[in-house]
Amino acid sequence: MYRNLVMGKIQLKFNSRTIHGGQAPDEAYGAVMPPIYQTSTYAQSTPGGHKGYEYSRSANPTRTALENSLASIENGNYGLAFGSGLAAIDAVIKLLSPGDEVISTSDLYGGSYRIFKKIFEKFGIVFHFVGMQDTGEIAKHISSKTKLIWVETPTNPMMNIIDIMSVSQLARKHRILLAVDNTFATPYLQLPLDLGADIVMHSATKYLGGHSDVVLGALVVRDKELADQLYFIQNASGAVCGPMDSFLVLRGIKTLHVRMQRHCENGRAVAEYLVNHPKIEKVFWPGFPEHPNHEVAKSQMKDFGGMISFVPKGGNYQDAIKIVEKLQLFTLAESLGGVESLAGHPASMTHASIPKEEREKSGVVDALIRLSVGIEDKEDLIEDLRQAIE
Ligand SMILES: Cc1ncc(COP(=O)(O)O)c(C=O)c1O
Repeated sequence: MYRNLVMGKIQLKFNSRTIHGGQAPDEAYGAVMPPIYQTSTYAQSTPGGHKGYEYSRSANPTRTALENSLASIENGNYGLAFGSGLAAIDAVIKLLSPGDEVISTSDLYGGSYRIFKKIFEKFGIVFHFVGMQDTGEIAKHISSKTKLIWVETPTNPMMNIIDIMSVSQLARKHRILLAVDNTFATPYLQLPLDLGADIVMHSATKYLGGHSDVVLGALVVRDKELADQLYFIQNASGAVCGPMDSFLVLRGIKTLHVRMQRHCENGRAVAEYLVNHPKIEKVFWPGFPEHPNHEVAKSQMKDFGGMISFVPKGGNYQDAIKIVEKLQLFTLAESLGGVESLAGHPASMTHASIPKEEREKSGVVDALIRLSVGIEDKEDLIEDLRQAIE
């Protein structure tokens, strides 16, 4: 039994855990939501005589409430919150030493690629970027130096699906840590720790926060030793989030299940509209039976999410730009996972930090458009796409 999943004698299911997991009324006045403890430090009666908190880089009660919630919704034991998703990734890579090797999926968020290549390669960590739809490809790159496998599924922005259980079996066999970026799926759709991953990572900026009003990152693990190493890095490197941001994400998580249900419903409607549109060439969404790893998606995800990428007929860059400029209800903006629908142009926005040849190898062509389908009325979203594509 993992921590934070029970309340009294009730073993909480997912929807209840988003609201109550790891939470208790505040001890001071019974506040139902944890107060925003906007403090850097805590009074001590004698050196070391404190109530569990000394300095807010090390720990802060509002952040603790969020970290307990994160652990609960991901079926983990320990949650850690950071100043951004990239700060969370930074902490994971700092578990490694010069000479260690990482196998990462080749199709991933551009900022994750950038921190691996432009920051950590300089410190002697070696990264192999590999297409992971077939686990056999990963096996080819494993050596005695491989210490971490980095999986993002569904991938950003190509919506490829990686079989977490199959990769975790391979990782376990070779005693390699497996980290999964669960930003796109969220624990509502997919629970990587249950499928054998060691670390779950989130850009909580996205669906967990859910309202495009905060930047925050998260890690969740089950193993105490691994958690202690990560807590050490969190405190020693100091890339923590503030109490106000912790509060906002905690509040966002409480409606995660309701929002995700609608994101999936609207995502399906938009994907089906686009795939039947004569002016659209390709649509990438794991819910299509023709998606190369649809069966894996079906087995490891509860539904298929609200992220969709597509290419207009002819694959012309100018046509793609015209569409994103004409959209009215979809806002052209970086980011994803908020209640409002967003459109993005990965080649010039989220994935601009990946060299063009590398980008195009994984399908991120100049005509690709990425949609984060929000929770507005689906008919309005489709009407907006209709007028923009025409
Ligand atoms: C899949 C994925 N992982 C990680 C990140 C980085 O998170 P943040 O922007 O919170 O640093 C992002 C941001 O877009 C993302 O989409």
